[in-house]
Amino acid sequence: MINEKLEKAFNYQINRELYSEYLYLSMQAYFERLNLKGFVNWMTVQVQEEHAHAMGMFDYLNQRGGKVELDAIEKPEIDWSSPLEVFEHILTHEELVTSLINKLMDVAEETKDRAAISFLNWYLKEQVEEEDNVGNVLATLRLIGDDKKALLMLDKDLATRTFVAPVIG
Ligand code: FEO
Repeated sequence: MINEKLEKAFNYQINRELYSEYLYLSMQAYFERLNLKGFVNWMTVQVQEEHAHAMGMFDYLNQRGGKVELDAIEKPEIDWSSPLEVFEHILTHEELVTSLINKLMDVAEETKDRAAISFLNWYLKEQVEEEDNVGNVLATLRLIGDDKKALLMLDKDLATRTFVAPVIG
C-alpha cells in the first residue's frame, strides 16, 4: 500500500502530465494552422510521450494499491507569435516539469518509499532527455531567425521524429 501523501503527489503529477499532453496538442493545432507538417509531427510524438508519462504513473499507482484520482485539466494557451516562441514556451514548461518530478521524488524520499524512488528515477532521466531535445530545436530556431528556407529545412528534419513507446520504471 502506498503512503497517502505520496499517492496525492502522484495524482497531482498525473494531472500535470495530462496537462502537458493537452498543451502539446494545442501547439500541434498551432503548427497545423501554419501548415508546418514536420513541426506537427514533432508535436504528435510529444503528445504521445506525455500520454505515456501519465499512464506510467497511472499504472504504477494502481499496481501499488493506490487510488487514481483524475482532476480537471486547465485550458492550455492556443496562440503563439512564432515557432521560436513555441519552443521557448516548451523549454520553460519542461523545466517546470523537471522541478515537479524532483518535488515528487522529495515526497518519495520523505516517506522512505524506495520502490517509488527507483520508479521515479526513470522520469528524472527522461526529463534530462526532454530538455536536451527541446534545447536543440530551440538553438536551431535561434540560428534560423527570419530565414524561411532554413525553417522549411528544419520542418523536414522534424518530420522524421517517430514515437517509440517507452519502457517506464
Ligand atoms: Fe512528461 Fe515532457 O514531461
